[in-house]
Amino acid sequence: MLVLGIETTCDETAASIVKDGLFILSNEISSSAPIHEQYGGVFPELASREHANAIIPIIDQALKKAELSKNQIDLIAVAQGPGLLGSLLIGLSCAKSLSLALKIPFIGVNHVEAHLYAAMMGKDTPLLFPALGIVVSGGHTFLVKIEGIGSYKLIGSTIDDAIGEAFDKVATLLDLPYPGGPYIEQLAKTGDCNRYHFQAGKVKNKPYAFSFSGLKTSVLYAIKGANGQKSSHSIIQEEDKKDIAASFQKTAFLDVITKSINAIAEFDLKAIYIGGGVSNNLYLRSLFSLYMKEIPIFFPPKGLSLDNGAMIAGLGYHLFNKTKKGDLLDLEPMTRMPLVL
Ligand code: KG4
Ligand code: ZN
Repeated sequence: MLVLGIETTCDETAASIVKDGLFILSNEISSSAPIHEQYGGVFPELASREHANAIIPIIDQALKKAELSKNQIDLIAVAQGPGLLGSLLIGLSCAKSLSLALKIPFIGVNHVEAHLYAAMMGKDTPLLFPALGIVVSGGHTFLVKIEGIGSYKLIGSTIDDAIGEAFDKVATLLDLPYPGGPYIEQLAKTGDCNRYHFQAGKVKNKPYAFSFSGLKTSVLYAIKGANGQKSSHSIIQEEDKKDIAASFQKTAFLDVITKSINAIAEFDLKAIYIGGGVSNNLYLRSLFSLYMKEIPIFFPPKGLSLDNGAMIAGLGYHLFNKTKKGDLLDLEPMTRMPLVL
């Protein structure tokens, strides 16, 4: 079964062709991030305008790379949410129009669930359930018990910032470009991760919940002085920045790892699947391997950690096969779309 996956939740316009949920024939991405850089975050209006410009060319490119014509596609999977309304509307309208014109079904999928599925898309990745699912992205940070594809129980999620959001905000404080995650990873490589003693937040009576907002504020105070503001002058030297980046990164990751270790023990889980943009971070991957030798850990294959159409197509294949039914043309985008109801 050949599935076209369309992803336009944020600032990436992506299209991919995946065969039988696993074999990626093409995975094309056009990002409007450079346009948003000057604003220090995604400018929603500009993002939707860029999606409108890029969507048809990127789908054509995905078909061309896969050496297929659009008439050979069996199903269209599209990210229905969560994401920016204007951005979601472009992808969803395009999927509906194509479905109507080509007389093939379309199915809306949850973009965050697709991030988890991305970790199952490695060629030799086995499906071992129940498993711990970890999403670390720019919009979400949570742990779930995965009972099967499409079946999840929430273990804990962030009560304030997502981890990627914290990376992006700390990056701005360190004068790094947007999105800052990869720049923090790079800067941290030569830094001393034990120099600054930051702490990730604890949430009362919720041992698996995350809170990164206090950690971000501690970094702000380290850079601008106690009770400093974003606009205050910096009290650190240029060479201190790498130590701040390394200390912040380690603190955030160890928090995810500690909670994951506890969840595995409490819920008797057999494997870990980690997805979302932050799972691209090689230091995160090395820490997980270091602290979790006893349990198989699966990360998305290259190119599938950040937003992409392949994970949408792959998950869409499984969800469609459960019911053999596509969605109706009145399917609405969902800016918030819980994974576990
Ligand atoms: O999953 P994603 O592409 O979009 C969302 O659904 O949010 O994640 C984007 C987030 C951004 O916050 C970005 O800074 C972060 O992932 N990110 C990283 C790295 N690469 C991307 N964070 C830390 N280290 C990285 N190497
Ligand atoms: Zn994402």
